[in-house]
Parts: sequence; structure tokens; C-alpha cells
Amino acid sequence: MTRRRALAVTLHTLWIGTLAWLGARTLAGVGGGVRRVFRKVRLGTLDRIVAANGSIVAVEGKTYFVTIERGSPIALDMQCTHGACTVRYDTESDRFVCPCHGGIFQRDGTVVQGPPQQPLARVPVRVEGDQLYLLDSSS
Ligand code: FES
Repeated sequence: MTRRRALAVTLHTLWIGTLAWLGARTLAGVGGGVRRVFRKVRLGTLDRIVAANGSIVAVEGKTYFVTIERGSPIALDMQCTHGACTVRYDTESDRFVCPCHGGIFQRDGTVVQGPPQQPLARVPVRVEGDQLYLLDSSS
């Protein structure tokens, strides 16, 4: 084998190796993107949630409001979207009020009065049989 031929084989091998490495990285990126891990927390029966017309649930330091909205169960993170304060549910007005700067949210989490600009975050829930589960990704 000539030196020229040996150099060509070496460069060709390096080129194929580089392509294989890039391909593997691309496939790993496609399949290995950001994975959210949800923890399933049982909230109780749907009947109980419907009967209660909304429940406040604490899960490891976080507070959620669980209710039925337009026929479907929803869970709202009760952390105000303006800051880190926990809103409180005012039964009289049927709204959430933030004790820190006076933000007000409707029962479905939409903003009524600032300073918050974003609605209360919805947390995924899942119905399995007659049970409702909160899918918490915060931990
Ligand atoms: S933290 Fe809720 S209104 Fe500012």
C-alpha cells in the first residue's frame, strides 16, 4: 500500500467514524430530550370532588385547588404567578386572593386583577376508574 493510499484509507475511516458519532448523538438527542417525571398523587373519588365543589390539597409543601370546571376535573397550583406567595380561596367571592400584593384570580385561575399577568398554573390530573390523581412534576 502506498503512503497516499494509506492516508486516504485513514481519512476515510475518520470521516465514517465522525458521521457515525454525529448520527448517534442526533438519535440520542431525539430520544433523550428533556424528560419530565410525574408523581401520581391520589386525590380521592371524583364524586367527592364534585360534592365538595372544590378542595384544597397539600402535597409536600405545595398547595393545589382541585375542582370540576366545565365538566372536567382541574387542579390549580395555588402559588401566585406574580411571586412566591400562596393565594387563598375566598369562599364569599368564589375567587383566589393573593395576600402579598392583592392579585385576584377567578376560580378557573384566570387573572381578574393584577399585578399578576399569568393565570394560576394548571397541573395535570388523570382519572382512573372513579379516582382522580394529580400528576405532580415539581419534585
Ligand atoms: S405575589 Fe401575588 S400579587 Fe404579588
